[in-house]
Amino acid sequence: VPVAPFDLVVFGATGDLARRKLLPALYHRLHDGQMPIEARVIGAARAQMDAEGFRRLAAEALDEFVAPADLDPDSRRRFLATLDYVPLDVTKDDDWQALADTLGAPDPERPRAFYLSVAPRFFGVIAERIAAAGLAGAHGRIVVEKPFGHDLPSARALNQSLARHFDEGRIYRIDHYLGKETVQNLMALRFANALFEPLWNAHHVDHVQITVAETVGVGGRGPYYDGVGAMRDMVQNHLLQLLCLTAMEPPARLRPDDVRDEKLKVLRALAPVDAARDVVRGQYGAGPGVASYADDVGDADTRTESFVALRAHVENWRWSGVPFYLRTGKRLRARMSEIAVAFKDPPHSIFAGAGGRAGANVLAIRLQPDEGITLSMTVKDPGPGGMRLTPAELDMTFAEQLGGGGLRMPDAYERLVMDVIRGDQTLFMRGDEVEAAWRWVDPIIAAWEERGERPALYDPGSSGPEDALMLMHRDGRRWREISA
Ligand code: BG6
Repeated sequence: VPVAPFDLVVFGATGDLARRKLLPALYHRLHDGQMPIEARVIGAARAQMDAEGFRRLAAEALDEFVAPADLDPDSRRRFLATLDYVPLDVTKDDDWQALADTLGAPDPERPRAFYLSVAPRFFGVIAERIAAAGLAGAHGRIVVEKPFGHDLPSARALNQSLARHFDEGRIYRIDHYLGKETVQNLMALRFANALFEPLWNAHHVDHVQITVAETVGVGGRGPYYDGVGAMRDMVQNHLLQLLCLTAMEPPARLRPDDVRDEKLKVLRALAPVDAARDVVRGQYGAGPGVASYADDVGDADTRTESFVALRAHVENWRWSGVPFYLRTGKRLRARMSEIAVAFKDPPHSIFAGAGGRAGANVLAIRLQPDEGITLSMTVKDPGPGGMRLTPAELDMTFAEQLGGGGLRMPDAYERLVMDVIRGDQTLFMRGDEVEAAWRWVDPIIAAWEERGERPALYDPGSSGPEDALMLMHRDGRRWREISA
């Protein structure tokens, strides 16, 4: 369904995120007929260039980041024609006037959004300038990216600086994990099927594991990443959001605040964790042909973690006693993200000596690669040799099942940017959610800082530090393999 013609101003339009994600996402939406050619995407950044220059930059971005098979010359041309550019130094009145002239007066029929693809220290001043120049009108939306704060006080300050000029219903905080197909599918799986929800609780679930493993190191992001670490970069947002969608109660409706209220309840129900006992932090060492984390960030003494594993509990009626194990790290064995719900064993086995194994029923929701859902089961080994049990999997890879093998899985940003234009906040974090997540994360980081220890080193290409394995072994459980 096409959206209404819109104006989207992208601050930081020459930056990495815009080139890698936003422009390609918008191209796809136009190519698929959802973004009308009457829409305008107005780049705003410090670089002095004209609309032609920005179109050239965008063309290069498309050529680099859109798969050749998806790059249709006609769509590419039509997309580039929607682009405009205004050089903007946020401190200069003239530049804001030029942006106002380009945008024209707000039109209630024409959605208008301001995408702040810039460092968070600019959020407040840009929001203020937009408001002061009357650019947003009564309906204009503002879109911000993580990092959304460094801790609870800084997140609060950011929220307040936005709230002075935009009410919550017009603030779109992006956590791109919420735009991933499989993450949305988790809601479909849970609430559009009668099969799982009756089992989705402490009576039947043994534990939940959430893994977001990456093979990349910190690369050129060292200076940023080293001041942040995996806990702030991944756990506070992406992993906790996945936990929320897994653990939340069914919302009464699919309205934005119904969903977000339920997620917030989960965050508030998280028990404080014992940082010494239930959290493991790691840092990748050097490997054959691979620099260590310390070398990547150029600081031999760095204490920042590139890996975190932890055990959390959602203290409510549904999840009492069920551990949620979370882990994420860079330079691990494979790029693999999944949510695995491990069910309890049958109460009594009549198959003694027939094989089979404990913990056989696991529902795994794979975010990447190869989005899909698998259900591990125990079945009878075929053949006349008597009753022998063997593991088997019901496997649903979405691209195969739903697209005859040729389905392109849209990038998270395609969905999220169109939701901004449609005015649907369901997949965006509300200010109180962000703050609740920090409230839980902050004491863990404070405990680390107090102890001042170096994270445990792990080998690149491994599953993380030994202690992370112990975190589960001591509970008589084990992590699922990290494999692509
Ligand atoms: C970002 C983090 O939010 O997510 C990065 O800042 C991380 O460190 C990235 O690499 C992972 O996203 P994806 O979509 O590649 O899993």
